[in-house]
Amino acid sequence: HTGNMKIILLFGLVAAVLAEVKNFDGEKVFRLMPTTDDHVLLIKELANNVKLDFWRPDSVDLVTIDMAVDFHVPLAHTDIVYTMLQQSGMKMGVLIEDLQAEMEEHLDSRDINPRAHSYTKYNTWDTIQAWIASISSSNPELISRQVIGNTYEGRPMNVLKIGRKSSSTKPSIFMDCGIHAREWISTAFCQWFVKEALSTYGTDSEMTSLLNQMDVYVLPIFNIDGYDYTHKTNRMWRKTRSAQSGSSCIGADPNRNWNAGWCTTGASPNPCSDTFCGSAPESEIEVKNVADFIRRNKSSIKAYLTIHSYSQLLLFPYSYTFALAEHHNELMAVAKGASNVLRSLYGTEYTSGPGAATIYPAAGGSDDWAYDLGVKYSFTFELRDTGRYGFLLPESQIKPTCEETMLAVKYIASHVQKNL
Ligand code: ARG
Ligand code: ZN
Repeated sequence: HTGNMKIILLFGLVAAVLAEVKNFDGEKVFRLMPTTDDHVLLIKELANNVKLDFWRPDSVDLVTIDMAVDFHVPLAHTDIVYTMLQQSGMKMGVLIEDLQAEMEEHLDSRDINPRAHSYTKYNTWDTIQAWIASISSSNPELISRQVIGNTYEGRPMNVLKIGRKSSSTKPSIFMDCGIHAREWISTAFCQWFVKEALSTYGTDSEMTSLLNQMDVYVLPIFNIDGYDYTHKTNRMWRKTRSAQSGSSCIGADPNRNWNAGWCTTGASPNPCSDTFCGSAPESEIEVKNVADFIRRNKSSIKAYLTIHSYSQLLLFPYSYTFALAEHHNELMAVAKGASNVLRSLYGTEYTSGPGAATIYPAAGGSDDWAYDLGVKYSFTFELRDTGRYGFLLPESQIKPTCEETMLAVKYIASHVQKNL
């Protein structure tokens, strides 16, 4: 038996090496609190010399004074980064001591059937794809699906339409999850939402009324190629997986690629940056597919919701400018109301406001684009947490996170419904 065991282990090792799964042994995530211009300069200088993986904000260009800055440092540079930060006198701490260990811990043990779909686990793309097929044929009265195009690597992008069948076009809400590959809790939320919608229709009066009067379009994973890559190769991947001419770097940021002040602020023209805006607006096929779908259904779509993580924020336009949106007061009131109901369940605190003023100016986002197209109720969620686990939110938090987020989404939906 021990002989067999050794062979199995050896196979595992060979498979891992062949697949080149990125290993994060001993790598750390730091939290900094820059309070002077010198602190900010030091962070930028470090980022210039060492490949830092920014968790919050999304890239070094967005770092300013008095914001929490979280980044992951590759092993080879840990000591030098640590020493330089210590000497600067900047307030700092270690959020994650060993990224690889945390990565293994954020998943429950995969004892039973690793391929089985679960609403309280982070499912692989293969599992989610099978789930999409089965759930959309489970209740033809309430749910249907359509492929809105393929990803760069050829995976089908399915939009689920949830709502009571009607002969005429109903007003609708569009929601997407998983624009950014590593934000796994986001993708988990769309699956949860679909389950809840189907299972509470007919018993929960709010959901019943919503689905009678409106349709909800759900895109469970926007950036499928990136998501698959985070499962198979690099857990920390954010962007799409498209080739970029003139560069060996891969992918663009699908939340900097929309035609809304495109690449003017908080985005990078450098293909190697995690906030690369792409070669042109909608250069990423995933963005183009969704933009085309929303343009086609523009007259029915009354709200656009996009789910990200982490930081516990409920944002609305604008992010490409500090100018206030025409409907600022109403959007602020809705965001505050939604945050309040969300908090009522487990006490989770959210901050709400327009993107530029609340976190940082960043152009080319889907929320601003949808809003300027005429979709008044346009919101970006940043789900749990505030940095203890960051992108590695444990699976044990999927259920409470989704439950509280449901309350906020339903609050927004019911406001939209009342104002049709
Ligand atoms: N963290 C998100 C991002 O940077 C926030 C998006 C807010 N909206 C925006 N248009 N920048 O993608
Ligand atoms: Zn995101």
